[in-house]
Amino acid sequence: MSAPRDLELVPIGDASDVAALNAALRAAGLPEANADRVDLFKFVHPSREVAGYAGLEGEAPDILLRSFIVRDGERGAGLGAAMLASVLAEVRSRSATRVWLLTTTAAAFFSKNGFQKIERAAAPATISKTEEFASVCPSTAICMWKDL
Ligand SMILES: CC(C)(COP(=O)(O)OP(=O)(O)OC[C@H]1O[C@@H](n2cnc3c(N)ncnc32)[C@H](O)[C@@H]1OP(=O)(O)O)[C@@H](O)C(=O)NCCC(=O)NCCS
Repeated sequence: MSAPRDLELVPIGDASDVAALNAALRAAGLPEANADRVDLFKFVHPSREVAGYAGLEGEAPDILLRSFIVRDGERGAGLGAAMLASVLAEVRSRSATRVWLLTTTAAAFFSKNGFQKIERAAAPATISKTEEFASVCPSTAICMWKDL
């Protein structure tokens, strides 16, 4: 495996990439992503093998991070942290100042990477109206945010 810093963030352009992402999300028990509403990305090694995926929804100043997943078999080796740094650089390049997410599975990972838990009601309307906020059950998902 390459060093995490060699990962490249690539916008997802075709249906086969979206299908592979949604298969990975289903396998992890996460909601599928709708490419019409969410900007989807894959993270690739120099070998062009896919290391993981992420999605961004919304516009500055508040952006939702979703569909964040490291390929099964590559987890626990620092790729998630490297992918997060890369996608947050993309969020900053959009002039956003806050990034939000819901998680049922990885609050400890995001806390370790600078996100804070917050009541879901504190999210701005542009975030609470996103498909993920509307569909993911409040009683199971933890809302988190990070000030950029
Ligand atoms: C969550 C995820 C993206 C983290 O990526 P990763 O490459 O495994 O994480 P890293 O190797 O960069 O970081 C590992 C650290 O985060 C912690 N961590 C990783 N996944 C975790 C999880 N699901 N819950 C809690 N902590 C987690 C590890 O304990 C480890 O901590 P340590 O260094 O103190 O041992 C990855 O495990 C994954 O894709 N999980 C399935 C999909 C998912 O749950 N995505 C989040 C959707 S909101």
